[in-house]
Amino acid sequence: MNNLLSSESLSKEAIEKILQKADSFLGYNGQDMKGKILANLFYEPSTRTRLSFETAMKRLGGEVISVTDMESTSITKGETLDDTAKVISQFADIVVIRHPESGSATRFADNSQVSVINAGDGAGQHPTQALLDLFTIQKEKGKIDGLKVVMTGDLKYGRCANSLAYLLTNYDVELVFVAPDQLKMKPELLKYLDEKGVKYSETDDFKEGIEGADVLYCTRIQKERFADSKDYEELADVYILTKQLVENNCPDATIMHPLPRVHEISHEIDDMPNAAYFRQVENGVAVRMAILTEYI
Ligand code: NCD
Repeated sequence: MNNLLSSESLSKEAIEKILQKADSFLGYNGQDMKGKILANLFYEPSTRTRLSFETAMKRLGGEVISVTDMESTSITKGETLDDTAKVISQFADIVVIRHPESGSATRFADNSQVSVINAGDGAGQHPTQALLDLFTIQKEKGKIDGLKVVMTGDLKYGRCANSLAYLLTNYDVELVFVAPDQLKMKPELLKYLDEKGVKYSETDDFKEGIEGADVLYCTRIQKERFADSKDYEELADVYILTKQLVENNCPDATIMHPLPRVHEISHEIDDMPNAAYFRQVENGVAVRMAILTEYI
C-alpha cells in the first residue's frame, strides 16, 4: 500500500514521474481504471478538489463513491475515524480524504486496507494541490529551477502554500513569504527549509514582497480556522493584488491561486496572460489522473 499524505514524503524521482505522467494525461480519456472504485470522503467543504478527483477517475474509466458532508455519516453517531477507515476501505480500491483535523489522513491510512490520498487535513497539508501547482509552474514557465516564487496571504493556516513550499525544496528556487505577523509560515516549515538549504525571506510588506516575482502564489485568508471572527475581519482584506501592482512590481509573474478566491486577486487580473489560476484547474485533473494510476 502506497499512501500520499504529505509533500515531504515524495522523492524528487516520484514527483517527476507524476509530472511526466500528468503531461500525457492532459485531454486523455481511457479505461486504465476500469473496474476500480475510488471512495471520495469529504468531511470538509470542497468543490474543486472533490470534483477534480471524480473527473480524473471517470476519465480513466473508473467508478466513484462519495461522502460529501460529515452530517450524513456514522461519525455523527459517534463512530471513530479508525473504524470508518476499516469499513470504507473494504468498499474501494483507493480512498481520497479531506477532513478538518490536521493528521486525520495519516490516522485514516493507519487503519485502511487500501491506499489513502490526503486531499487536505485541516491546516496540515494538501499534497495533490501542491503537485498540480508544481505542474502548472513547469508548464507556465518551462522550468522550476532558478525561479523566485512568492507566496502571499494566510501562510499559517493555508495548507496549499505549505505543501507547495515543502515540494519546492526539491528544486533550486528562491522563496519569499509575504504574510501579516499573525499568519506567518509555520516555524517547522522554516526549519525544514533551513535544513534543506533553501533560500527564503519573510516580509509583511506586500508591495516589497511581490517585487520581481516569477511566480506569485496568492492564498485566501482561511476564515474557518479562526477562533474569533473579529480576528478574521481584521485580516480579511490585508492584501489585494491589482493589475497596477502586477504591472509595476512583477510584470512577468505567473499568478496562481488554489481557489476559491475571495478578495485577494482583483477580477481585472483575470484577463491578463499572467493569470494562471483557471489553468491550474485543468492541470489538476491530469495530475490527479497520474496520482490515481500511481497509487492504486
Ligand atoms: C484550498 C483548500 O481547500 O485548501 N482549495 C483547494 O483545495 N483548491 C484552498 C482554500 O480553501 O483556500
